This record gives sequence, C-alpha cells and structure tokens, in this order.
Amino acid sequence: MHSNIELEHMLEFTEELAMKAGHLIKELREKPLEFNYKCGTELVTSADLKSDDLIRNELKAYYPDIPIYSEESHADKTDFFGPLWIVDPIDGTVNYAHGQFNVSVSIAFAYKGELKLGVVYCPFLEEKFSALRGHGAYMNGKRIYCNQMDDLSRAVIATGFPYDRSKRSALMKRVSNILNNCQDIRRLASAAIDICWVACGRLEGYYETVSIWDMAAGFVIAKEAGALISNFGPEKPELPEEFNSECMLVSNPKLHDKLFDLLKE
Ligand code: IPD
Ligand code: CA
Ligand code: CA
Repeated sequence: MHSNIELEHMLEFTEELAMKAGHLIKELREKPLEFNYKCGTELVTSADLKSDDLIRNELKAYYPDIPIYSEESHADKTDFFGPLWIVDPIDGTVNYAHGQFNVSVSIAFAYKGELKLGVVYCPFLEEKFSALRGHGAYMNGKRIYCNQMDDLSRAVIATGFPYDRSKRSALMKRVSNILNNCQDIRRLASAAIDICWVACGRLEGYYETVSIWDMAAGFVIAKEAGALISNFGPEKPELPEEFNSECMLVSNPKLHDKLFDLLKE
C-alpha cells in the first residue's frame, strides 16, 4: 500500500487542497468573522470551521477510506498506527483574527506511525512548504535546506506558549536559558510556520509543546530539509515515536545537542 507514485499523487493533491483552503481563509478575512473560545481561552473563528469543512469534504471525496485527525473535528478514538490524514485548518488563529500574516494551513499524511508527507501553505505570505519522505523539502517548488550555523550565541530560536495561562510560568526557566545563551527569541504564533522556518534556514531552532496537528506536516518538511528533531521531555509510549509533539525540539544539526541540553535543564 502507498507506493511512491501513489504518495506523489497524494502530495500533489494535498498541495492543491492546502492552497484552496488557504485562499478560502484569506477571502473570509475580508468579511466579518464569528469568534468563539474553546475552554474559555482558545480562540476558534468561523473561518477555522469553514476551512475544516472544505478540507474534510475533499479528503473524504478522494480518499474515503482514510480517517482524518483534524484539530476542529477529530474522532475520540484515533488509530495513529493506521493510514491517517492530520489537519490543522488554520494554524495561527490568533494572528488570523488580529489581521496578521503568520497564518497557515497544515496537512500531513501518516502510515504505520510514520509521517509520509506534509504541506504547510501560508496564504498571506504566498509560501507553500511541502515534502515527501525521502524526496527533499521545497518552498514554492524550490529545494530548501536548514542552515548550518554553529554559534549558539548567534542563534535565533522560536517558541510558543500554551493558551492555558496557568501553564505558562513553568516555561520561563527554558525561555531564560535560551535568552541567556542565544541571540534572541521569536514567537511567530504558528507552530507549522516556526518549523518550516527552521527548514528553510530563517531560524536556527524551534521548541514548544504542541499538538500533533500543529507539527505533523512541518515534521516531514524539516526532516527532509536536514533538520534534527527530538523530544526533550518524557515520551508517550502509546503514540508512534514521530507523533511525540510534547517538548518538541527542531533545529539545524549543528546546534541540536546544545539546544537540547539548554531545554532539558
Ligand atoms: C497554535 C499555534 C501557536 C502555538 C499554539 C497552537 P492554533 O495553533 O500553533 O503557535 O503556540 O500552541 O495551539 O490554535 O493557531 O491552531
Ligand atoms: Ca495549531
Ligand atoms: Ca488550528
């Protein structure tokens, strides 16, 4: 199942779909949006739900047998070891609602616990990142690589913070370790974009505790661009190794161990 040719077709399909959803959310921002808060703090707009509908309907029409794990509409029981689409219909919703540009649509496909392909489309920046496992990573069709900078004191590192404010203060030690040893920190507010920016060399590293839909597509793109990915916290044995999205570190290969040590402390 899932020969290379089949996966190449799936990648083309996924690229078109992510762009279609991206164009939709761009258009929707021209009109009034509806806002809701999940668990009191997590913003979801009417555009998140419309993007989810579009992606879900197209995936179901073309790949009726493959289950979908989407931030806005996943089943309670998901088999992470079977074939699976992993979708974040808008990554960067807070940016989206504030008229900012770091917003993406993220779609990945996994099989037997391995992330096989990923697409991250940024409609306001008109950048499409994509990768098929074993075939390199691309931005708008051009091959990309992470950078090889090896001076920690010049490294720019991105991270993010949970919506749940009670969990934020525990993260300050890591932030201070990074700030005391690196050039600076960035908070782009779209995990998928953070990971793609490591992949194309705009950042030396990125770390955060995120959900699987935030990182799945970026994982393939960063790996294919030569970045190293690891988990600096406890593993979740019930999940395939590549789905460990808690305490995720993505970085260029030269700084990985140093960053790992700073975060693990
Ligand atoms: C969020 C973004 C953000 C990260 C949060 C995510 P959303 O996703 O990726 O950068 O810090 O943890 O939840 O809510 O915009 O899809
Ligand atoms: Ca997200
Ligand atoms: Ca989202």
